[in-house]
Amino acid sequence: MDIFERIQHHNGPIGKLQHLIEGDFAFPKLEGKISNHIFFKNKELICWSYNNYLGLAGSKEVDKIDAFAQKKWGITYPMGSRMMTGDTLLHDEFEQNIADFVHMEKALLLNFGYQGMVSIVDALLSPKDIVISDEQCHACTIDGIRLHRGEKLIFKHNDIQSLKEQLQIATKHTKKTKGGILVITEGVFSMSGAQGKLKEICDLKETYNFRLLVDDAHGFGVLGPKGNGTVCEHNLEDKVDLYFTTFTKSMASFGAIIAGKKEVINYFKYNLRSQMFSKSLPMPIVYGLNERLKIIAKATHQREKLFSITKLLQQGLQERNLLSDHVDSHITPIYFKIQMEDVFHLQRELVHNFGVYCSVIIYPVVPKGTVIFRLTPTCLHTEADVRHTLASYDKVFQKHMA
Ligand SMILES: Cc1ncc(COP(=O)(O)O)c(C=O)c1O
Repeated sequence: MDIFERIQHHNGPIGKLQHLIEGDFAFPKLEGKISNHIFFKNKELICWSYNNYLGLAGSKEVDKIDAFAQKKWGITYPMGSRMMTGDTLLHDEFEQNIADFVHMEKALLLNFGYQGMVSIVDALLSPKDIVISDEQCHACTIDGIRLHRGEKLIFKHNDIQSLKEQLQIATKHTKKTKGGILVITEGVFSMSGAQGKLKEICDLKETYNFRLLVDDAHGFGVLGPKGNGTVCEHNLEDKVDLYFTTFTKSMASFGAIIAGKKEVINYFKYNLRSQMFSKSLPMPIVYGLNERLKIIAKATHQREKLFSITKLLQQGLQERNLLSDHVDSHITPIYFKIQMEDVFHLQRELVHNFGVYCSVIIYPVVPKGTVIFRLTPTCLHTEADVRHTLASYDKVFQKHMA
């Protein structure tokens, strides 16, 4: 069959719903300044969908920084990949600043989190090695692992017993292959809202020989004494081998980093295909990252506000039996076991009749039959936003669930 003919008839698990979802909760055109409220189809909505945890997107201070950098350099400079013609002192300076911030020896700036992580996993592993990942790791980890030509194991989400079992299998396997073991988890899981069990995983290093890579996309900026992430929050800098975060969440920008021991980061510098064969990040982005880092380090008030809104929202959901037990971060998922058609009714009613917008996560991101309404509070949300959202849920969810 012709390739184009086949793909037209098999549009993928989400694509096949296109006629039901496009424009409403797939590819919605959200307009206006990024904040706690947003405009959608000319209607003002409370928006619980942005990972703008500290309110940097839409902030006047950040807009000024970006406008200054854009005026100074434009967006084209430098040209080429860093290895060839695209390296600058500013890129180096930011890498040192971020490494110091997350208490790691050295860091490498990545153009994108997704591609960066795919390349990291690819560059780290030889066919003799074995990789073990949490079943809820982000698609970038899953896709990096797809490139691995050796054994791959998965442990149940945040389940230390399950990880131990996989480590036992992996240890036996690598005795034969003479390879190593890489464990991958996250600081804060974007689906379950649970923090990764980093301390317990690090403790397993006393019994098993493995390297640990933590994706802290959602912990960076939020947790840790200065927003320096989940690893610093739990004082595990000496035990976590590789720290990864993206700058598309709390930092409201582009790019990501991988940080760790200098020899390993130096290896990445010359072996990460997503960096070596791709244009380096433009100056305004790098300048903006440096300035954002200073803002994040001082954003104690924003973090306190984020935590207080999260508490209020989660308490309200708990009283309504809508909050799952394992949530211990700002990310607030509501799990439903309902038919897909009902999901669309719920979402439309919430958006169009009550002005409440959140992300809806469906299969294949979550298992078939499960749907997540995910709320991501930010420091910009107000108590009134929480009250209105909960009151809307009382009306809409009860009606549909009855
Ligand atoms: C846990 C996690 N890791 C990695 C990424 C990828 O980051 P980026 O947006 O920089 O590609 C994301 C973004 O959604 C994420 O949530």
